[in-house]
Amino acid sequence: MLVYLDNSATTRAYDEVIALMSQMQKEEYGNPSSLHTMGLAAEKRLRAARRSLALALCAREEEVYFTSGGTESDNTVLAGLLALAAHGKNRLITTAVEHPAVLEPARRLESLGFKVDYIGVDRHCHLNMQQLEAALGEDVAMISVMAVNNETGTIMPLAEIGRLKERFNREHGTAILLHTDAVQALGKLPLDMAGALRQVDLLSVSAHKIHGPKGVGGLYVRKGTKAQPFMLGGGQERAFRSGTENTPGICGFGLALDMATGRLSERTAAMQKARAALLSALKAEVPDIVINSPEDETASPAVLNVSFLGTRGEVLLHTLEQEGIFVSTGSACSSHKKGQSHVLTAMGLKPKEIEGAIRFSFSEFNSPEQMEYTAWKVKEAVTRFRRLGSFR
Ligand SMILES: Cc1ncc(COP(=O)(O)O)c(C=O)c1O
Repeated sequence: MLVYLDNSATTRAYDEVIALMSQMQKEEYGNPSSLHTMGLAAEKRLRAARRSLALALCAREEEVYFTSGGTESDNTVLAGLLALAAHGKNRLITTAVEHPAVLEPARRLESLGFKVDYIGVDRHCHLNMQQLEAALGEDVAMISVMAVNNETGTIMPLAEIGRLKERFNREHGTAILLHTDAVQALGKLPLDMAGALRQVDLLSVSAHKIHGPKGVGGLYVRKGTKAQPFMLGGGQERAFRSGTENTPGICGFGLALDMATGRLSERTAAMQKARAALLSALKAEVPDIVINSPEDETASPAVLNVSFLGTRGEVLLHTLEQEGIFVSTGSACSSHKKGQSHVLTAMGLKPKEIEGAIRFSFSEFNSPEQMEYTAWKVKEAVTRFRRLGSFR
């Protein structure tokens, strides 16, 4: 049995997405900037994909841009802050648990003279809102807080942060921007830029986490928000993101959006069912475990992070792999780096809890049967590891 439980790292593309991308590359390969009919056909396809992204975010078409992924979207937003430093806005508020696509540009900003506040979290990765409120000031250019943490699935209180920002801006006559990295939220939670997220000015998304292709993403920029382009060149994407458009990828993203966000409740119900089945089986079958993800309404249906005490996550990962089960020890992007997860460390976990941590992340393709099999194999592996460990 193949049980893929690393969907926060990436997902299998929908068959329909692969078919469309293949057709675009074989037959509809025109450059949208070309004036002939093949160019116009590509342009039409691009417009349809833009409509899909705008629809998924309850946004206007002129507010969304295509990029090469979540990393480029995040980098574009943070690099754009340099232009605000001249106006006395040289501070960024972010969190200690952001993805490196935000943390690394934040460090770059620090090296260029910006001050960055990294807001802390509690044991289940809930943001310290008092610390965030206290950090607000007229020199703050932006608050950047992820919508859902990629290692624990904790949903961040963006609507509340938005209200805080709006009140501070009104009372102080200033214009702090709010950005969110919503890569792990797209296709799992409603993202309503006209409703709950109406105070969010900029939002990053990525295609390959929702059964779209790798190397494609999106950036939402609220109308009226001054954002700086990062990629300069031929003026594509209304001069905000130059470079010949990745039409097969963008159209694949558009279709994945239609298929994933168009069936949001059905998809999340399937993920929720798989997550709940695995959680209860692990609790029943495996002693000495610690649940690092929240267990209330602040939990994404897509992620479950568990520490198996007395084991090493990495060894567990490779043992499970031999049984056809694919999981992660932390975020895929940091798992090749030495050192411990910055997220679990910021949550204040003990070293043995960090060492034994495994992230299971779900898709609509996971079934309760797969979860029974996984829990059983985890139990076997953990028992064996603990037994052998005690011999040493
Ligand atoms: C929260 C978050 N932000 C950004 C990214 C990077 O996105 P991409 O792989 O599209 O560059 C990821 C990918 O793991 C992520 O989980």
